Amino acid sequence: MASHFLLLALLAMAASLAMATDPTQLQDFCVADITSNVFVNGFVCKNPNLVTENDFFFPGLNHPRNTANQLGVNVTAVSVTNLPGLNTLGISIARIDFAPYGLNPPHTHPRATEILVVLEGTLSVGFVTSNPDNKLFAKVLYKGDVFVFPQGLIHFQFNAGHESAVALSGLSSQNPGVITIANSVFGSKPPISDEILAKAFQLDKKTVDLLQAKFWMNN
Ligand SMILES: *[C@@H]1O[C@H](CO)[C@@H](O)[C@H](O)[C@H]1NC(C)=O
Repeated sequence: MASHFLLLALLAMAASLAMATDPTQLQDFCVADITSNVFVNGFVCKNPNLVTENDFFFPGLNHPRNTANQLGVNVTAVSVTNLPGLNTLGISIARIDFAPYGLNPPHTHPRATEILVVLEGTLSVGFVTSNPDNKLFAKVLYKGDVFVFPQGLIHFQFNAGHESAVALSGLSSQNPGVITIANSVFGSKPPISDEILAKAFQLDKKTVDLLQAKFWMNN
């Protein structure tokens, strides 16, 4: 009896683990019909007879993006919304441009592990494990170096050099999602009560109000 229960518990755990990543496809492809008003987990398939090579194509990731913003960073995400052929395939890509000392601020991807390769420049990167350890794994990366950020963990990338930097990231979801920590906490709409944030961050309400009045980039 006890061993049956253990087996069931293990099976349940395995099932919930499998559901933590994008489901596998049941056909060669299911190009997203972005305009459909049927709502499913992902997107419904475009008629396969109308699918063309352009549904699997996204040009121009070689072009540098404009980094003239408060963080000095520009993330070009190529996911299911701008590359519909990615629907059901469990993968996407992003180009990240950094101005000198540009920062991709602490954020998490709720649905994806990220694997990053530095194409140009020097990046100081890191991620923090979950409670209770909250251990920081950090490293300085140079051109050609690869680093992986495990799914769901808070991570960042900082251009530690005085030249521009460029990285490419592969992500294990067609729709990784981004939660930028500062923007989520201090820039929510409507705002979280300053009483709650003051207690949570050990600040006085005035400091919280000041933080909430700022503009937070949500890249
Ligand atoms: C990123 O770059 C593109 C093109 O260079 C620009 O249109 C866009 O506004 C930039 N985004 C940010 C957040 O600076």
